Amino acid sequence: MYFAPPLRRRAHRRAETVGPIAASRHIPFGVSHPSVPPRSGPFSREARRLLPRLKRWREEFHRDPELANEERRTRDRLVRILGELGIPATTYPDFTGVLGVIGRDRRGPVVAVRADMDALPVTEATGLPFTSTRRGRMHACGHDVHMTCLLGAAALLARRSSLAGPVKLIFQPAEEDGERGGAAPFLERGAFDDPPVDYVLGQHVEPGLPLGSYGWRKGPIMAAADRFRVTVLGRGGHAAYPHRGPDAILAAAEIVAGLPALVSRVRDPLDPVVVSVGSVHGGTRHNILPDEVVIEGTVRTLSPGTRDLMERAFRRRVRALAAGLGARVRIVYRRGYPVTVNSPAATEVVVSGLAEEFGERAVRELERPVLGAEDFSRYLERVPGTLLFLGTGTAAAPATLHSATFAPTDAALVMGSAGLAAATVALQGA
Ligand code: NI
Repeated sequence: MYFAPPLRRRAHRRAETVGPIAASRHIPFGVSHPSVPPRSGPFSREARRLLPRLKRWREEFHRDPELANEERRTRDRLVRILGELGIPATTYPDFTGVLGVIGRDRRGPVVAVRADMDALPVTEATGLPFTSTRRGRMHACGHDVHMTCLLGAAALLARRSSLAGPVKLIFQPAEEDGERGGAAPFLERGAFDDPPVDYVLGQHVEPGLPLGSYGWRKGPIMAAADRFRVTVLGRGGHAAYPHRGPDAILAAAEIVAGLPALVSRVRDPLDPVVVSVGSVHGGTRHNILPDEVVIEGTVRTLSPGTRDLMERAFRRRVRALAAGLGARVRIVYRRGYPVTVNSPAATEVVVSGLAEEFGERAVRELERPVLGAEDFSRYLERVPGTLLFLGTGTAAAPATLHSATFAPTDAALVMGSAGLAAATVALQGA
């Protein structure tokens, strides 16, 4: 998904930092963020010593990307590396997820930390020395970085004798799938049971935030994403005689043009909603009216109530617009991932842990949620926790998520590993 969160606090421009980073182009309102050299806490110092291994792991994942639910080689790699770290791992015959547990016998709070595993159908154009070896496959959403940082955090936590409670490492497939996803099937397979999880933690790389920073937010941080497919049924025939039947093309055009009124006249203007049509298909030739036209798109909302409201209003409006021209419609409206809602209390604990590790300036509150979606939301429906954004923006890496040139630098691996470890320890102390 693509998102570009604006920040609440304006970063101070400092003379010694190189001007506004190129990635700031992706942030609305022209807010610019110089990179922040984070203060180094104990986890960061240790993670820096791990960097050669972190790089090796990341390169291995990056070279060999696999799509949603096909992550078998990735799974085998994770199991091997967890074995090297002395961490037991569970795998499943019919599912590519990997579950590792550190300190199973500890008595304190159980924290689950999640990294997603899947890549995207993109042909890489980064020119990196460890570029994808699979044509049309690329880790273009940074999930290679997510897995590496979780392994890094695991390495840091596994060697701590003072670990308060168990830590569950959730390597989850199929985040990019968009509908079923990998979180729901993982939960069905008991990811949050035995020992039962108290808190959940996750992070996503974000090129719209400067390298050396974390972005956080209490409450909704990402949207619910639902999708629709409307088949407009008219009566095909010669284009010279349009009066003989409902014209599916014209009805489809009315529907496409009429949907924005759902945003402007149905929901509360202060509650963000997106309704976008992404594809319209119909017809074969200039003088033939088709029998049907198919319209597909997405509806994004930030609260369960608005989500229900939008579905009802969508169905009503589409039917009415078609009926106005005598056409009929078949509507398929599918619920995707729910709203990602960070628990305020858990977020506060995590933020204070991060601020202690990296300094206050490196930890930034996001002013608003983004309208991308995440199936991390399904974990947050079960237990309190928080999804963080890990800044990867530099002047040299301006590309957005899901682009063929997205190449977060290795420097993010250190902060991403240390951050997850620090946040886990903070939650266990809560
Ligand atoms: Ni992603």
